[in-house]
Amino acid sequence: MLVLGIESTAHTFGVAIVRMQAAEQPQVLANVRRTYTTTSGGLIPAKLSEHHMNVFSSVLSDALVQAGASVPDVGLVAYSRSPGIGHALRIGAGVARSLALRHSIPLVGVNHCVAHLEVGRVLSGRDDVSLLYASGANTQVLAREGGAYRVFGETLDLGVGNFLDTVARLLGLGFPGGPQLEELAKQYSGPLIELPYSVKGMDVSFSGMQTAVKRLIESGASAQGIAFSVQETVFAMLVEVSERALAHTGKECLVLGGGVACNARLQEMCRLMCVDRGVEFFAPPNEFLVDNGAMIALLGARVFAQSGGVAVSKAGIDPYERVEQC
Ligand code: ATP
Ligand code: FE2
Repeated sequence: MLVLGIESTAHTFGVAIVRMQAAEQPQVLANVRRTYTTTSGGLIPAKLSEHHMNVFSSVLSDALVQAGASVPDVGLVAYSRSPGIGHALRIGAGVARSLALRHSIPLVGVNHCVAHLEVGRVLSGRDDVSLLYASGANTQVLAREGGAYRVFGETLDLGVGNFLDTVARLLGLGFPGGPQLEELAKQYSGPLIELPYSVKGMDVSFSGMQTAVKRLIESGASAQGIAFSVQETVFAMLVEVSERALAHTGKECLVLGGGVACNARLQEMCRLMCVDRGVEFFAPPNEFLVDNGAMIALLGARVFAQSGGVAVSKAGIDPYERVEQC
């Protein structure tokens, strides 16, 4: 069966076509996305929905062409119903509903955060995984336990990517800041600059470090030294809470998700921790780490097999749904 997955929770509008095959690894035939960017830093919801409205038909047709498929070949339409920015979610849900209605295709709505977990689970080939989800807006450690999805730890203030983007902005760098900090950090060979390390149980917080970085910049510290020290400190915090979640849940594999997880140093630190603990580590290719339609298709197939689809008239959105409510 072909599953068409639509991602539309925030900046990215994505469409994927995935072939689900009994007893075999699913095959991602196409995974196309366009991302709304802005130089002003701020995100205006009305502009975001305008962007998604402008790109959805070309993203959809590019995905179908790449997959060599047409809409009537599709056996299931899956869309991201939660959580996210209402203006963006509505476009994806609207496109999904129209396709389902026009072509009488079953429809299913899924949670975006769980989809990051599911793509790691499927691509790693490991059934029982814990996810470090490190993106712009989200920072969570989550897993399925006791028949439910649970968040074991999360940020108490900013998402890690938004924090890195703020540091980059303070240093006068453009958006997105994470990749630029990664490059700067590689150019530094001096000692670690001490920064507030804030782990509370399995939660993390970044606001104290943000204040400390502002002071460092005022005191004339080098951008390379700041980038290196911020990365080392922040990633150590994420690795610590991921390890604690692994110890708590007894999961045998850590998978990564989210744009920040594209960072080679974060991947290296996670891998080292997993080797030390004797558990598996899996970082999906970058196209599956960032927001993408393939993860929505994969989770949609699982949800549909377990509990069926949703009527078009009831296929809504939920900008605030938590993983625990799924
Ligand atoms: P979500 O809706 O899941 O929160 P998002 O809209 O924030 O996702 P993502 O593509 O998952 O989008 O993540 C974007 C973030 O990832 C940005 O903050 C960006 O700076 C950060 N990022 C991307 N590449 C890297 C990298 N190599 N190192 C560190 N951070 C990175
Ligand atoms: Fe995401």
